[in-house]
Amino acid sequence: MKKNQESIIIDSHAVNKIITKVGLNRVMDDLILELEKSLKNYNKEETEVPIRSGFHYKKPFLGLVEWMPIMKKGEEVLIKVVGYHPENPDIFKLPTILSTISSYDAHTGHLNFLVDGVLLTALRTGASSAVASKMMARPNSKTLGIIGCGAQSITQIHAISRLFPIEEILIYDTDQASTNSLADRIAPINLGITPAVSRISEIMEKSDILCTATSIAPEKGPLFNDFNSKPHLHINAVGADFPGKFELPKSLLENAFICPDFLEQAIIEGECQQLNPTDIGPSWIELIHDEGLKEKYQSGISVFDSTGWALEDQVVASLFAKYAEELNLGTKMNIESYSSDEKNPYGMIHQLINVVQ
Ligand SMILES: NC(=O)c1ccc[n+]([C@@H]2O[C@H](COP(=O)([O-])OP(=O)(O)OC[C@H]3O[C@@H](n4cnc5c(N)ncnc54)[C@H](O)[C@@H]3O)[C@@H](O)[C@H]2O)c1
Repeated sequence: MKKNQESIIIDSHAVNKIITKVGLNRVMDDLILELEKSLKNYNKEETEVPIRSGFHYKKPFLGLVEWMPIMKKGEEVLIKVVGYHPENPDIFKLPTILSTISSYDAHTGHLNFLVDGVLLTALRTGASSAVASKMMARPNSKTLGIIGCGAQSITQIHAISRLFPIEEILIYDTDQASTNSLADRIAPINLGITPAVSRISEIMEKSDILCTATSIAPEKGPLFNDFNSKPHLHINAVGADFPGKFELPKSLLENAFICPDFLEQAIIEGECQQLNPTDIGPSWIELIHDEGLKEKYQSGISVFDSTGWALEDQVVASLFAKYAEELNLGTKMNIESYSSDEKNPYGMIHQLINVVQ
């Protein structure tokens, strides 16, 4: 078989060019479709997704670096390495979530491609909330509530507005600069809606769909306690993805339909940490196949416990690898050392020395 030494690097520049050429809305629409398709076709026999693991620490700053692996048997191993450091924006002027995604050939271990995971994580997290909302929220949902106006809020608004006739966006954040700047940050989406800064109680009362995406610290939750809401409120709980961290009150969870993205992970890091196994409903993989259940759950309060699942990363990374190939973008590099003698790692050094001399 012919050796393929090349790996493709799809860096932030290439990602930017892809989005410019394809168009932001088309990228989000493609991603939502691909994600729905992958959830529908998901087969445990063909795809292995272990619970993510990593290093969690409180010093010098609270944070984690985790690896999120997924294997399509006989095809591809994809691993996202993701850092969560909520002090990043204030102290280092960096996003809270930093990440890269790498894809390996499951026959040989060869690095197929490496792609930026910062923008791709935000895109797939938004798309996931949109897909979950399509299953659990009323199709005519018009008022979108946002608690936590950081990086993820942009793609939550973008993705949900692609599937629902959103007319009003109500927002809250403990950081006033974040609420004040949100209108400018969502300008590229061209929604023609100015988000209204609101109290949490008002957001709870008026929203049809609510997205919580905050960096509230572990053990400091929930974001609110008492609340009044529409009977059909659907919540995408995006921020709980760390042991001890949660956003929603237990009283709400106990009286809602709870759909985790990945149960085994959600009981360690998500809103499901607060619940008994009997209080937790089917995952979105099960729900997507059951129209009857969807209808049933659209009438009551529902919560998508979004901790972030490696399948979402595989979908978004594959989509960008496909775009890069079609548009001839990305940089081809020979990162791995291959020599003419597979059993001599120094063979390649020898070849280089000969060339230099
Ligand atoms: N579920 C997933 O797949 C997924 C993916 C990416 C990020 N996340 C999580 O989403 C959260 C937000 O990520 P981000 O990239 O937007 O971070 P970010 O730092 O850009 O934004 C977080 C925002 O939350 C606000 N906030 C903190 N405490 C709050 C409180 N008590 N009430 C209201 N607002 C509060 C902050 O002021 C900040 O503006 C993080 O916890 C992150 O880990 C989840």
